[in-house]
Amino acid sequence: MTRWTDTAGQAGEALIARASARYRAADPFAVHFARFKLRNDPVFAIALAQGLIPDGARILDIGCGQGLLASWLLAARQCHADNWPPGWPPPPVPRSYLGIELTPADAERARAALAGPGPWPADIRQADARAAVAEVAAACDLVVLLDVLHYIDRPAQEALLRDALRCLAPRGRLLMRVGDASAGWRARYSRAVDRVVQWLRAGRTSPLTCRPADEWRALLRGMGMTLREVPLPRDAHGANVLMVGTLDSEPVHNAGTPAATSASAQRRGTVTAAGELEPL
Ligand SMILES: C[S@@+](CC[C@H](N)C(=O)[O-])C[C@H]1O[C@@H](n2cnc3c(N)ncnc32)[C@H](O)[C@@H]1O
Repeated sequence: MTRWTDTAGQAGEALIARASARYRAADPFAVHFARFKLRNDPVFAIALAQGLIPDGARILDIGCGQGLLASWLLAARQCHADNWPPGWPPPPVPRSYLGIELTPADAERARAALAGPGPWPADIRQADARAAVAEVAAACDLVVLLDVLHYIDRPAQEALLRDALRCLAPRGRLLMRVGDASAGWRARYSRAVDRVVQWLRAGRTSPLTCRPADEWRALLRGMGMTLREVPLPRDAHGANVLMVGTLDSEPVHNAGTPAATSASAQRRGTVTAAGELEPL
């Protein structure tokens, strides 16, 4: 099976090296983890190779872990000029990045990796996304939810998605990877791995809540999203689906309209005179 690193060659290696080097400011574990994950989980390469991250996006990365996506995008910007994988489009230049992460140690690692002046504003909030996303006062163009939703229960999954879509500007995009509970033994295997990793990284043993992919599709479409799916190689997270949702107009439940956002945002005093959310 061809891996992304085979086709991206030396330029792919340079990307991994640059992105993981940022974690030297954190701890050796973070460096090794970044190297391992960026090499073996193709989602980061796919996001760049297939242009899944819009240029100029205000990114909200929910459950951002140690901020790998942000480090990856920074590395991409550095590598693009001199050493770039053949056939990949130019990397996106975000307008801003906000990561929300529950585990304090990972939030710290993300902060360390993103510390210092950067080409775009980057912020990490250590918080429970179930409450924190509802408090986000800024509009965004891309919501990222990579391997996060199964850590919270069903009502919370739906509430979090609704809150996230409320932050999304018209024609904004959702990049979401979830497990497919209907994938048989691969789903059970994937869940077992996730439980062990959750315990090792965060000391949490809470149960995971998975849904069949069809249920995720129906849920997102019911919220007003148009969906497409990006195939993942079989060797990567065998039971996962990567979905790209677009908010063509306004999310269902009127969430995201000036009228709806203003109710929560005005409580926080963050709505502009024009009824728009303050940019990140
Ligand atoms: C499998 S990791 C994925 C990390 C990151 N999205 C990535 O792809 O590198 C899932 C992350 O979600 C975080 N998480 C789980 N529940 C959360 C919550 N309620 N609020 C914020 N983050 C949460 C975990 O702490 C963990 O860092």
